Amino acid sequence: MLRKLIAGNWKMHGEQAWTIKPAGFDGMFKAADRSHLDVLICPPFPYVREMFAASASRNILTGGQDCHALEKGAHTGEVSAEMLADCGASYVIVGHSERRAAGDTDADVHVKAMAAKRAGITPIICVGESLAQRESGDANNIVGAQLAGSVPECLTDYVIAYEPVWAIGTGKVASVDDIKDMHVHIRGIAGDTIRILYGGSVKPGNAAEILSTENVDGALIGGASLNMADFAAIAKAA
Ligand code: PGA
Repeated sequence: MLRKLIAGNWKMHGEQAWTIKPAGFDGMFKAADRSHLDVLICPPFPYVREMFAASASRNILTGGQDCHALEKGAHTGEVSAEMLADCGASYVIVGHSERRAAGDTDADVHVKAMAAKRAGITPIICVGESLAQRESGDANNIVGAQLAGSVPECLTDYVIAYEPVWAIGTGKVASVDDIKDMHVHIRGIAGDTIRILYGGSVKPGNAAEILSTENVDGALIGGASLNMADFAAIAKAA
């Protein structure tokens, strides 16, 4: 069995004072009791270094929410994977549906995943279908095509996050059967060594059922990761 990964994506939420949150999490779920899983928090860029400083000794990992394909250059407003690594990040989310909605294509995600590899950090490559695609019975093909376009062939160290777009931040969760079917489909493509996370309205109340589903190796959590009691409850369910 693969080691589970419980990843919090804070999106554009937070402030300097939130760097006390890892201490709160640690108080509720001690490192000694979570030796079987990895816990990761991805704050907004300005807080990555401080989050790392506040988290590393507590055995909580820090990640970025996106990165640019290049190491450096005239790209105003962008952040490179090397910069994230320099600030202590060991993971970076790429291809989140909110980035894809802002224009990222599979080809963009592919080069961002390569940038993570170049910087020595692990990309969490997000895929997921829209509601219309699910309803038309196309979900497996869509996700298969996203994986084919987004995951570099040479990559061996990466994580996939399956996040049905219609389940993100909506309170709607895919059924356990749908999650199971999609994760089997992705497992067939990615192989046995790659962790496959589920994401989309994971909460303390549904975490145990989702995380005990076959081929679900963890969760990518948005809203519920902002509250450490909820985040700890989800991690405990793993
Ligand atoms: P959510 O977000 O848990 O708030 O639905 C998940 C995500 O966007 O990764």
